[in-house]
Amino acid sequence: MTAPYLKIENLHVAIEGKEILKDFNLEINGGEIHAIMGPNGTGKSTLASALMGHPKYEITSGKVTFNGEDLLEMEVDERAQAGLFLAMQYPSEISGITNADFLRSAINSRREEGDEISLMKFIRKLDEKMDLLEMNQEFAQRYLNEGFSGGEKKRNEILQLMMLEPKIAVLDEIDSGLDIDALKVVSTGVNAMRGEEFGCLIITHYQRLLNYITPDKVHVMMQGRIVKSGGAELAERLEAEGYDWIKEELGIEDEKVEA
Ligand SMILES: Nc1ncnc2c1ncn2[C@@H]1O[C@H](COP(=O)(O)OP(=O)(O)OP(=O)(O)O)[C@@H](O)[C@H]1O
Ligand SMILES: [Mg+2]
Repeated sequence: MTAPYLKIENLHVAIEGKEILKDFNLEINGGEIHAIMGPNGTGKSTLASALMGHPKYEITSGKVTFNGEDLLEMEVDERAQAGLFLAMQYPSEISGITNADFLRSAINSRREEGDEISLMKFIRKLDEKMDLLEMNQEFAQRYLNEGFSGGEKKRNEILQLMMLEPKIAVLDEIDSGLDIDALKVVSTGVNAMRGEEFGCLIITHYQRLLNYITPDKVHVMMQGRIVKSGGAELAERLEAEGYDWIKEELGIEDEKVEA
């Protein structure tokens, strides 16, 4: 098995003819946790959607390699099957399919026919992960995200992460709307995934999350690309001083993606 590996080179992405990502570069290896921070509207969620293959996001140039394969050539379901996972900033509600059914079919879609997870094993694993995430058992039988509170949806994204055990996970604002206790629980979940077989990209606005999940690298995104990278101390400086010093240092006037 290849170690998890995501390499993004010179990626340019447009939405409805407007270029959002411009020369975006990033490399994540197994065992690493990276964080992307950056002001609103700088292209963070666009990156996440483009990686998952959202049809609205047009890759105009660049290359993405995932475990040695060309990610951009893969269909959306193939990306998930290959072990790429995205926790969206705004998770969708899907009526008519329960959380448990969704998880079980998602797990089985990553397995060969005839090698499906047994119901016993699935339930044992689900119970274990829900316990760790301090989730009430009733959430297993509720329709996927339907009527879940903001924080419950985020916790449920981490349940999916733990059940699916992807190779690379992109977590878009997994901390938004979480109370302090939920923030700790969600962090426990992500930290439990840490290991050589797992790489993670955390998109966040707040250093607070990074107090619980120590990133190996922190990147700042402006104008649709990474403009600065550093270690965990970079997030601390951003928390204390905001983004102006970076803009001054780099001579950036408007950090947003220009039209
Ligand atoms: N589907 C879309 N249609 C039109 N414009 C879009 C679409 N998705 C993103 N954009 C535009 O691309 C720019 C970057 O958006 P994106 O959601 O990637 O920002 P972000 O960095 O995630 O911001 P935030 O921190 O507020 O979540 C914004 O100007 C946004 O309006
Ligand atoms: Mg966003």
